[in-house]
Amino acid sequence: MSNRRKFLRSSIFSSFGLLMSRKLQAGAPYVTMTGSPIVISTWDAGVAANAGAWKILGNNGRALDAVEAGVRVTEDSINCCVGLGANPDRDGFVTLDACIMDEKGNCGSVGFLERIKHPISVARRVMEKTPHVMLVGSGAQQFAVAEGFPLEEQKLSDDAKKAYEQWLKKSEYKPVINIENTKPKGHGPSAPAYLSNGELNHDTIGMVAMDAAGDLSGSCTTSGMGFKMRGRLGDSPIIGAGLFVDNEVGACTATGQGEDVIRICGSHTVVELMRQGMTPEQACKAAVERIIRIKGEKAKEIQVAFLALNKKGETGAFAIQKGFSYALKSNREEKLYTAKSWYL
Ligand code: GLY
Repeated sequence: MSNRRKFLRSSIFSSFGLLMSRKLQAGAPYVTMTGSPIVISTWDAGVAANAGAWKILGNNGRALDAVEAGVRVTEDSINCCVGLGANPDRDGFVTLDACIMDEKGNCGSVGFLERIKHPISVARRVMEKTPHVMLVGSGAQQFAVAEGFPLEEQKLSDDAKKAYEQWLKKSEYKPVINIENTKPKGHGPSAPAYLSNGELNHDTIGMVAMDAAGDLSGSCTTSGMGFKMRGRLGDSPIIGAGLFVDNEVGACTATGQGEDVIRICGSHTVVELMRQGMTPEQACKAAVERIIRIKGEKAKEIQVAFLALNKKGETGAFAIQKGFSYALKSNREEKLYTAKSWYL
């Protein structure tokens, strides 16, 4: 053990003896000062997802179980961008991507998965039951069915059908971004925001959480970009891009245009910047700035947002465009925040 680690352990031991012994038994690398559960997740849909996660976190459950249960709530709902009711690809098929990561660096992922309701749970099975990290396409579906996940009939939701029919009129292959947000400016609780077309303003659901033992986990699930090319994967199933967890430092998840998150290994970058001493918000902002440097003027046309949590229980977010909301739930608060953004 390094001298620094020894020093940290002994000084914390003297102040937090009881807590420390509990943490050591749990095998945590070092003690968090908070020991208090917290969950954050992307967009307005995060409020309901956090409530799902809190049923586990609030009962001293494990963060891994919480982040799976939390995003399953969104996968169950009818919305534009997550789960079987989401917008299809340009050929009319809903294809789903998801990944999950725990406090020990275990991770699992599925991509281009069709007709399975809970990709996040399949990703967890990949993590726990296979020697692999990632399964895609028909192989992922075959694995899911073998694991007992029912093969659902594809049936576009009314909203998705309408959106797809609208898109087919021009069949223009252009990313659609959620720039505008109709809710009040500034931080604090607010009602769900709707886009000008009436659609609920969110895309991928990414969630990161710390449990009462101070352990971190994260999850991320999406149908990806609406009307994407068939076979396209975004950042959400890619560990290090859509999600990254390092139990010594913190965790991050991303939302928005996946191609540009992948370009900078976004979530891993944010965690590494936190390791170097940045706060979660500073790290998210620095990652956004990298994308801005690469994209130049084209950055005006895209949305990417990062949402991070560090080992001390501090949270932060930053987006390219205004209008990115994230939900937070802890013992002290339950709120929907609006993140700061590069373009105002
Ligand atoms: N961030 C979701 C995607 O690009 O697929």
